[in-house]
Amino acid sequence: MSLTKYFATTAKGLEEVLAGELRLLGLDVLETATGGVSFQGSQPDGYRACLWLRTANRILQPIGSFACRSPEMLYSEVYALRWSDYLTADMTIAVDAKVRNSQLSHSRFVALKTKDGIVDKLRNQFGQRPNVDPGSPDLRINVHLANDRCTISLDLSGDGLHRRGYRQDLTVAPLRETLAAGLIGLTDWDSEAPFVDPMCGSGTLPLEAAQKATRRAPGLLGRSYGFERWPNLDQESWKEIKAEAREAATARPATVILGADRDNRALQTARSNASRTNLGDAITWQRCDFANLQPPDTAGTLLVNPPYGGRLGDSQALLPLYRSIGDTLKQRWTGWTAWVFTGNLELAKKIGLKASRRIVLYNGPIECRLLKYELY
Ligand SMILES: C[S@@+](CC[C@H](N)C(=O)[O-])C[C@H]1O[C@@H](n2cnc3c(N)ncnc32)[C@H](O)[C@@H]1O
Repeated sequence: MSLTKYFATTAKGLEEVLAGELRLLGLDVLETATGGVSFQGSQPDGYRACLWLRTANRILQPIGSFACRSPEMLYSEVYALRWSDYLTADMTIAVDAKVRNSQLSHSRFVALKTKDGIVDKLRNQFGQRPNVDPGSPDLRINVHLANDRCTISLDLSGDGLHRRGYRQDLTVAPLRETLAAGLIGLTDWDSEAPFVDPMCGSGTLPLEAAQKATRRAPGLLGRSYGFERWPNLDQESWKEIKAEAREAATARPATVILGADRDNRALQTARSNASRTNLGDAITWQRCDFANLQPPDTAGTLLVNPPYGGRLGDSQALLPLYRSIGDTLKQRWTGWTAWVFTGNLELAKKIGLKASRRIVLYNGPIECRLLKYELY
């Protein structure tokens, strides 16, 4: 079987977690880069990656890479690619471009020039050109231009892979599902000791934890993928991969997974999100202020994403909350490993405990820390 090279993208800081996930899937990791991991595999391996990876944002299949310092270079290199291998003239396309540190500095212009190269090529070959559909194209094409080097890829994912399909209600400032899964990956939680998120908001962390603990493929909740609309779709393999994933899932986690929040509306949202994952009764939801939350009997992992100002409330007003997080952890959560994810480094200091690890991560453009506290 011929091997294809893929590139899985992720949030900066989660590359090693993603590489670990790829290895667990039995895929051949080639290289870890900033913001993603390249791997190789068969065509169905690309489908498995889309269905199973919890921390990947997109799965790309690079089809061309070239030096690019002018619009003419871009157009002619794109034109030279064998588009008829991937695309028929009656399909729709969309081009996403990201540009960094290059002579061509406008991503919209780069996307437009790339689109021109593709449609002109097909028109000249077949007398008909594909139309553009930015919202729901048959083929999504990804352009990555950095330091005057351009890579053109097909995007297997379609919609970003963080769109699992369970989240329809949004509270303020929910974590992206892929980032939540990455934080859980970084904690090294083993799915056997209890998992607690005492400020769960819309429930993303407990929901991602429960899916991991029950070995549910994150893509099985009814979403679709870009590659399903490609002319070369291997229907049989795709059906098998989905059937295997359904078989792999267990009904319940082996341990307590607890999501708590003091806000009733947040908990309602969390419960309604949980109902769409069929994991509603696998998670304990509790309305409670963190200061009063009773830890489960056995010690485990606590992961909390408190409000951090800028997005929710104001830093000054959050000082007492961060102080009380430190006090509560010290007084009530002895024996636990606690992790705090925050985008406000000043507030983090107010926790007043010594972190044994400080991991730098990005929540979109916001530089964040995941801080580890071992509560002996
Ligand atoms: C940034 S949001 C969490 C978002 C969540 N990770 C998600 O993905 O939806 C912070 C949450 O902390 C809750 N919260 C703030 N102070 C709290 C406290 N003292 N006890 C419990 N929950 C609290 C808020 O109600 C809010 O839902």
